[in-house]
Amino acid sequence: MVDLGARSYPICIGAGTLERLGPRLQELKVGRRVAIVTNPVVSRFYREPLVQSLKAAGFESTVLQVPDGEEHKNMAWLAFLYDRLVDARLDRESAIIALGGGVIGDLTGFTAATFQRGVPLVQVPTTLLAQVDSSVGGKTAVNHPGGKNLIGAFHQPRLVWIDVATLKTLPRREVQAGMTEIIKHAAILGPQLFELLEAEIEAVMALDEALLIEVVRQNCAIKAAVVAQDERESGHRAVLNFGHTLGHAIEMLTEYRGYLHGEAVAIGMAFAARLSHARGLCEASVRDRIIALLQRAALPTEIPKELVGRHLALAVEADKKVSGGKVKFVCIEDIGRTKFVYLTGDEVLGHAGGTH
Ligand SMILES: NC(=O)c1ccc[n+]([C@@H]2O[C@H](COP(=O)([O-])OP(=O)(O)OC[C@H]3O[C@@H](n4cnc5c(N)ncnc54)[C@H](O)[C@@H]3O)[C@@H](O)[C@H]2O)c1
Ligand SMILES: [Zn+2]
Repeated sequence: MVDLGARSYPICIGAGTLERLGPRLQELKVGRRVAIVTNPVVSRFYREPLVQSLKAAGFESTVLQVPDGEEHKNMAWLAFLYDRLVDARLDRESAIIALGGGVIGDLTGFTAATFQRGVPLVQVPTTLLAQVDSSVGGKTAVNHPGGKNLIGAFHQPRLVWIDVATLKTLPRREVQAGMTEIIKHAAILGPQLFELLEAEIEAVMALDEALLIEVVRQNCAIKAAVVAQDERESGHRAVLNFGHTLGHAIEMLTEYRGYLHGEAVAIGMAFAARLSHARGLCEASVRDRIIALLQRAALPTEIPKELVGRHLALAVEADKKVSGGKVKFVCIEDIGRTKFVYLTGDEVLGHAGGTH
């Protein structure tokens, strides 16, 4: 449950539950017409069971497909979706269902936030990243040539429906990248989850269903608690940026190719752990535990040599810049405890060359 007063919503987590969304949707009291937004990759596996479940529950669904890939999370495809929704005569009571990863979730979310000034949104995330991160919290966006996620809105879903069995078809590299956000949530706010991962990460990555349900549940609880405290990211929600300051800089410098988001953030978390220790904020053992877990998830933990240098410092400053050129950098004090430190890009990166 995400506790946001009148905008609260449940997060339902299970295995093999895609076929049961229909009856649950009836409880939401939305209109009979619904739209499902997905892409051809996800559609191939999961469209039919979902459509059948909705049909059996009395819903009439229109399936809208956007091509696969981040490059389609843009205003052209947003306009395409508006057109199709108008054609399908969806109204303000109609729910829009996002069936896919974070790209589909963000694009569909923004569509639902703005179509008819906001219609009910249901998130059905099918990547690990989307299940533990992007489907919860209400951030929606599309990209603009001038920047990623530049056009967006907060629009909380009415329901998040997570079927961990859908991860079975997810490419291995995407499973690994999704693990980054799980390790992040555990490191910043979930010492118990961190211990569970230390004991079982290989089994989680082998997609053991019972374990996955437990891990996804604990993750969503952590994210939901942060969102409930700070829905619009005015303060505390920034802890979720752990590893992301450097991660975003790496993504930017490599032009969003080469590294998946989770891989860049894994490097960023290992870096933040080293920086925290170098500044005397945490024990070496805290740093080492974080890096060890990332490595067990087959994630990268070193800044690629060709990126170290002045341009990386500048890229760090370009991300989430605060007054006086200082970046609000999330450091770690212990597993489950963080501290914001305000640093310039050079102060952040001074450490990368091994000068500390
Ligand atoms: N709104 C938020 O709070 C938030 C948070 C984090 C990230 N994001 C956004 O999420 C996006 C990244 O999401 P992502 O990592 O899920 O990437 P993605 O949506 O591109 O999915 C990754 C790949 O997996 C495929 N796929 C999805 N589900 C599958 C399944 N079950 N089986 C087989 N293939 C499947 C997709 O078609 C795609 O090729 C970015 O645009 C990012 O900005 C948003
Ligand atoms: Zn992230």
